[in-house]
Parts: sequence; C-alpha cells; structure tokens
Amino acid sequence: MNVLHLDSSLTGAASVSRLLSRETVDAWRATDPAVRVTYRDLAVTVPPQLTPETVAALRLRSEPASAQGKAELLHINTLLDEFLAADAIVIGAPMYNFGVPTQLKAWIDALAQAGRTFEYTPQGPRGLAGGKRVVIASSRGNIYSTPQMQDKDFQERYLVAALQFMGITQFDVVRAEGVNRGPEVCDAALASARAAIAQLFTAQNTAHETVAT
Ligand SMILES: Cc1cc2nc3c(=O)[nH]c(=O)nc-3n(C[C@H](O)[C@H](O)[C@H](O)COP(=O)(O)O)c2cc1C
Repeated sequence: MNVLHLDSSLTGAASVSRLLSRETVDAWRATDPAVRVTYRDLAVTVPPQLTPETVAALRLRSEPASAQGKAELLHINTLLDEFLAADAIVIGAPMYNFGVPTQLKAWIDALAQAGRTFEYTPQGPRGLAGGKRVVIASSRGNIYSTPQMQDKDFQERYLVAALQFMGITQFDVVRAEGVNRGPEVCDAALASARAAIAQLFTAQNTAHETVAT
C-alpha cells in the first residue's frame, strides 16, 4: 500500500492540518505495517503555477521552448506520476480565504490532465484515476459544517469535487474546525478530529465519510 502524504499549510510547527495529517499517517502505519509513505511538503517545494507555455505543452503534448517551461513541465509530471502511483493520499488541507492554499490548488492543477486523470466522452467527463482512498486532514478557523455555513466551504468541497472528477470515490474527512474561536472550541475540535482518526483504520471501516458521487 503506497500512501502519499501531503502538507500545504504555511504556518509550520503551529499548523493544525500538519498535526492531523501526521497523526493520520502514524495511525495508518500502526495498523498496517505494509504501508509505504511518500511525503511531499507543497509549502516547501511549491508546485509551479500553470502558464500559457505549460498549458500549451500539456494540451498539445509538446515540449516547452524555454528552460523554465521545461522545468515546470517536469515538475508537473512528477506530481502527476506520484499521484498515480499512490493507492491512498492523506492531504493536509487548511482553509485559507474560504478555499485551499494556492500551493494545494497548484497541485490539483498539475493533476487535472486530460487523457491521464480524466477524459471527456459524449456522455460527459469520466475519471481515469479511481480506486484510491483519500483522507482530507482539514483545519479551519471558523465552523462550516452547519447547514447555514456549508455553502461557504470551498476547501473540503473543492478538494472532493476535483478528485471525484478524476474518478476517486472514497473520501474520509478528519476535521478540526472552529480552531480560532478560542481555546475551548479549539480543544474540542482537536478531540473530535482525533476521535475521527481513531475510527479511520478499524477493520470494519473502509470510509469514515464516504461522499456519494
Ligand atoms: C492566510 C489565511 C487565511 C485564512 N482564511 C480563513 C478562512 O477563510 N476561513 C476560516 O475559517 N479560517 C481561515 N483561516 C484560519 C485557518 O483556517 C486556521 O488557522 C487553520 O488552523 C489553518 O490551518 P493550519 O493551522 O494547518 O495552517 C485562515 C488562516 C490563514 C493563515
């Protein structure tokens, strides 16, 4: 079992999503010694933003003219190959300005390649990268899981939508929300996230919060 462990928070040692993604991977390793983990810190090795040159190269399957374009295309395809090689992915995903950090958005941009992770058919788009399990280690300052707030969540819902588009159907969310609402709410949020992690890898549990497609 190849697990790809990603972090994207910019707050270093203070990061809640980094804490949760690490505890998730540790719990996974503890229950399955066959787990092999590849770690990638998207805040340290930042994926390139798409440019006219790299988009043209991806669309036409051509080689970029500039040295920078060539290096960016190589980086993008390294991210894609790493994703395709993973059986499971743990994504440390903070909410920044209602969405995900730009570094994590750039990772999604690298993966969404026609003919590799999705294709269009007359019936509509079809995902080509299914069969993976995804765990989103989510942290956010406010609370968005209520009916009144969930339409403002462009973080978890975005990640699920983008990865569903690529064919993934099995999602778990380990969530600490309300972490900026003071110590009591933050402590309760962490306890709730840790309880979710403890549930994740029990024998009968294949998906804590499977999202219907
Ligand atoms: C740049 C930035 C933008 C943020 N935007 C939001 C936001 O839109 N909504 C929210 O609830 N919290 C927001 N927060 C708070 C974070 O979601 C919260 O601190 C969370 O713990 C961040 O994850 P991290 O600790 O792994 O970095 C923001 C924090 C930062 C640093």
